[in-house]
Amino acid sequence: MERTCLAIILAAGDSTRMKSSKSKVLHAVANRPMIAHVVDAVAKSDTSSVALVVGRDADDVAKAAQVGSVKIETYLQKERLGTGHAVLAARDAIARGYDDIIVTYGDVPLQTEGPLKAARQGLADGSDVVVIGFHTDKPTGYGRLLVKDGELIAIREEREATDAERAVNWCNSGLMAINGRKALDLLSRIGNANAKGEYYLTDLVEIARSVGGRVTAVDAPEIEMTGCNNRAELAMIERLWQERRRDEMMISGVTMIAPETVFLSYDTAIAQDALIEPNVVFGPGATIDSGAIIHAFSHIEGAHVSAGAIVGPFARLRPGADLAKGSKVGNFCEVKNGTIGEGAKVNHLTYIGDAKVGAGANIGAGTITCNYDGVNKHETLIGANTFIGSSSSLVAPVSIGDNAYVAAGSVITADVPADALALGRARQELKPGRASVLRARALAIKAAKKANA
Ligand code: UD1
Ligand code: MG
Repeated sequence: MERTCLAIILAAGDSTRMKSSKSKVLHAVANRPMIAHVVDAVAKSDTSSVALVVGRDADDVAKAAQVGSVKIETYLQKERLGTGHAVLAARDAIARGYDDIIVTYGDVPLQTEGPLKAARQGLADGSDVVVIGFHTDKPTGYGRLLVKDGELIAIREEREATDAERAVNWCNSGLMAINGRKALDLLSRIGNANAKGEYYLTDLVEIARSVGGRVTAVDAPEIEMTGCNNRAELAMIERLWQERRRDEMMISGVTMIAPETVFLSYDTAIAQDALIEPNVVFGPGATIDSGAIIHAFSHIEGAHVSAGAIVGPFARLRPGADLAKGSKVGNFCEVKNGTIGEGAKVNHLTYIGDAKVGAGANIGAGTITCNYDGVNKHETLIGANTFIGSSSSLVAPVSIGDNAYVAAGSVITADVPADALALGRARQELKPGRASVLRARALAIKAAKKANA
């Protein structure tokens, strides 16, 4: 029989150490608020319900936690009186009666469902409280797990620990699982007679044992349990997230020449056999298909690059850029809300915005789609197999028919039919011998100035 489970996410803290105008759980890791990463992990641990305990920036935190189809109830912890007090803010949810309760923190964004599931398994195996611990070389600041004969006997907060207890390097991640039928009784016994005068959730260990309950601990990878209290830890968590995701991608068949210089977003999707050169940044919403090449120093966001397409170096793909198979967007080109047809080439110093470029088109260097009139955006349609001469301005709304030519340096303000040649520039004049006359005159002026000096 399936065990029912309530997950309680604590995110009410004041984030004092973050020194920020917003709650720390709203700060982004891989371009997504920390709290959303946590909700994702919780959703994968087969919970029936999710309760989010909010305090500071309650509305924003609740909004940022809404990811996917996970249904979340929020509970307000009005006063921040400690982690034990915070869990009881969700008292009404707990009182509905679940087999399992898991408690997790909104500021531990690298957690995955693995440790949460392991803790639930501990409950299924007969424990009343299962604490998720981790081993670390730097235990300072964390509660320490004190173990005897395979059972967890206490969690000692740093402030209350003896020197011997401080030497312990098995630490409390803060995450735990509690027998849902006994949770309310156990939680209501937590007091605040300690160094901080707070209700410590960690007291649950000794409380459960004092009433004859069984308490155990499971171990989790240190990286997953890293908590975020300040900006330095935020940067470290970002680094750890990036390393973990890049490794997953490379293992799945993506080539990265200098992975430590590639930055991914939480939802970046890169298919097997894509090649990512150094110093590439992926904003949210990027999808790169098999065999595509992203040359160095490109920035890609909200864009799709099809199989075999080539991007960069120094290209910028903005939201709505969609490159078809075998197309090319080269150096110093920007594409925004624009489709580049199969095999089309946009190779040098070009801006394609609010435009459709047909298959096989060749867009010359320095071409600009003039999509904005200062108020509204307009569309440019460029047909298949067209040839747009270098340094042309295509003033939208405008369309260029299939197989048409646009002469270099044209300013195109009217539609060009298929197969036509459009010249939108002044006709060239030739004045034989005129250059030497001009040069002689300039040299004479210079000589006169020198004589008068
Ligand atoms: C807590 C644990 C410590 C553990 C560490 C892991 C306690 C007493 N201590 O310490 O054993 O090693 O986490 O990171 O539990 N929160 C609320 N309301 C409150 C207080 C906290 O919602 O009144 C939330 C915070 O937003 C945060 C989490 O609970 O997400 C932990 O709070 P924090 O103040 O960071 O606890 P630590 O001192 O780090
Ligand atoms: Mg903390």
